[in-house]
Amino acid sequence: SQIGSNTRRSDYEKWEETQLSKKMKINHPDDIIVENKTGKVYEYVFDESQHVEFTTTSENQLNSTDTVDQDQDQDQEQDNSKPKTIAEVRKTLPVYQYRDELIQAINDHQVLIIVGETGSGKTTQLPQYLYESGYSSKGLQIACTQPRRVAATSVATRVAEEMGVKLGEEVGYSIRFDERSCESTKVKYMTDGMLLREFMTDPLVSKYSAIMIDEAHERTISSDVLLGLLKNVLKMRPDLRVLISSATMNAEKFSDFFGDVPIFNIPGRRFPVDIYYTKSPEANYIQAAISTVFQIHTTQPEGDILVFLTGQDEIESMQENLQETCNKLGDSISELMICPIYANLPPEQQQKIFDPTPKGSRKVVLATNIAETSITIDGIVFVIDPGMVKENVYSPQTGMESLVVTSCSKASVDQRAGRAGRVGPGKCFRLFTNWAYHHELKPNPTPEILRVNLASVVLLLLSLGVSDLLKFQFLDAPSKTGLMKAFELLYSLGALNGKGKLTTLGKTMSQFPLDPKLSKVLITSTSYNCTKEIITVIAMMGEASSLFYAPKEKKAQALSARESFNQGCDHLTFLDVYQKWEDAGFSKQWCSDYFVQYKSLQRAKINANVNFQSSRERISRTLISGLFTNISKLTSLGNYKSLKSQQTMSIHPSSVLSKVKPPPKVVLYNELVLTSKEFMRGVIEIQESWVYEVVPFYFTQAEKEEFEKNKGKVKLGRK
Ligand code: CDP
Ligand code: MG
Repeated sequence: SQIGSNTRRSDYEKWEETQLSKKMKINHPDDIIVENKTGKVYEYVFDESQHVEFTTTSENQLNSTDTVDQDQDQDQEQDNSKPKTIAEVRKTLPVYQYRDELIQAINDHQVLIIVGETGSGKTTQLPQYLYESGYSSKGLQIACTQPRRVAATSVATRVAEEMGVKLGEEVGYSIRFDERSCESTKVKYMTDGMLLREFMTDPLVSKYSAIMIDEAHERTISSDVLLGLLKNVLKMRPDLRVLISSATMNAEKFSDFFGDVPIFNIPGRRFPVDIYYTKSPEANYIQAAISTVFQIHTTQPEGDILVFLTGQDEIESMQENLQETCNKLGDSISELMICPIYANLPPEQQQKIFDPTPKGSRKVVLATNIAETSITIDGIVFVIDPGMVKENVYSPQTGMESLVVTSCSKASVDQRAGRAGRVGPGKCFRLFTNWAYHHELKPNPTPEILRVNLASVVLLLLSLGVSDLLKFQFLDAPSKTGLMKAFELLYSLGALNGKGKLTTLGKTMSQFPLDPKLSKVLITSTSYNCTKEIITVIAMMGEASSLFYAPKEKKAQALSARESFNQGCDHLTFLDVYQKWEDAGFSKQWCSDYFVQYKSLQRAKINANVNFQSSRERISRTLISGLFTNISKLTSLGNYKSLKSQQTMSIHPSSVLSKVKPPPKVVLYNELVLTSKEFMRGVIEIQESWVYEVVPFYFTQAEKEEFEKNKGKVKLGRK
């Protein structure tokens, strides 16, 4: 059941031929050895066999039948001399020529799958088409979900601009802790997690006339669950329209899931992208990426660079390093405009990546995999791809969760390479070997639902009244072991009773947009009389990895400033930073004096004045009430072992407890991060007896007896 795909094939094919003939003219050396002025020379191998072509789109390109024979270069020249209006740009997007057909198909079918290459206009245009054809009449809204916060806000900003309205009025967005929409909002971009939470108060999503689940191929746990819930809603809401949009593959799977619904293909356009691999495996991919940026900058013709990194910390460190090198090189190279983009970046700075590159300079975008499909940056010609991604991985066997930097899938790295071919032929530099591509990468990313702790989802579904989870229709059903483990955890948190039914506590927990363990901690804090402290700790935990910074030239100063907050454990250190910031009137200057990230603190800012008084013991006991799975004990080998599993781990070097002698005997941690080994981040020393007192039900009778027996033998705590 394919519609739309064949209608304009012939024009498209003609167009493609012109591209192919252009391709023949491109000269590329078999090997590219580029030198840069930093001294390091990086060698890449061009893979002839893998001259991958990616479908792509470009504003400069043809939009219909009439321009096929036009001279391409002339076309581009015209573009440069006369900038297009925003309305004209909208009409050049590939979706535009299918506008009427799309609207017809949406009218005719309750569910429609839409497949099109990144940049074809799905996210920005489809909700507008729905709006223009009256879907938001009768006070109903059009929702478009995004897996990522940055995408939701940046797309909403763009669409408000296209529609000539103020953001937050006709066009708005809704992401956790940040809402810009109102009663009269017609088109709302939101994270998939936010729409999921709306099901709690409005199970028929009656506010919406149409819902577009965008980037469905990303398979986030929230959008997977949304698809399952929407499938049930459809019968009860015959007027509701559901669009599922996906970058490329997997369309059939979505179609089958909804009962063989039609797939609408929006044909893309192609530019070739040459793929280069490193000759040997690369251990330090950040350093390699930095060298490659300068190599491209000093040897390659104009065109912007996109670098894929795994997270904010990597992006910030690479940004700093690039900037330093640029300063050193001074006028000997032309200007590099360095633009980071990641979820926590303030919106004003996010918009910077869309600013046009000034003539004579080159833009380098440092992005997380947000730039893989969710946002499109024009002008990218070079992609640098270390082939890594940060994922949350959970092992139901051990009950351990950790953040892992791991290899991407082939589908992901191919998608990333495609980002180089949007405006013309591009080059992609992969910081791994050709052999690794063919032998080590898995074909597709693993859907989130198959690799994360399911406790949040189980809690949410139960609160939505889905009682038989084994019967719930998932696109990919999670394992029974995974579900059982989630039930066990929720039971031990007190969210479920012995029959697997939601308790009052569980209902309250489901209201918080937090991991159930943290919801439990938050609720317990009221009985330990330390709610302000715990709210602040939880808010600061989210910022922990980016809280402090240390510029190279002021390293000693920065480290001594950091030391001034040291309270002997990370949680109280967080509180001390916050308290001192508040005492300084939430000042920005204070932050730069103490080398603390102002934007991190601003995000963590709570709506109350704090005056922290609680003792470490109270805070620890409160933390234990929810985070009892995150406790480990010092072993005779000097590392730590999880209290209930065999997992070994160490204290993360960023922790104030990492260099303490003698090391603490028993600790509670916020999260595990797997790099060279498992590291605990956010650590506080506790007494083992507190654990048995706060969560006695977490232990078997035998474990309790064993603890009692040994208690006399061990000296508890340090002095
Ligand atoms: O969703 P899809 O990848 O199909 O495309 P899109 O995100 O709707 O992007 C269509 C066009 O809008 C692209 O040319 C983008 O460059 C442009 N756009 C933009 O200029 N600013 C944004 N914040 C988002 C998109
Ligand atoms: Mg999109």
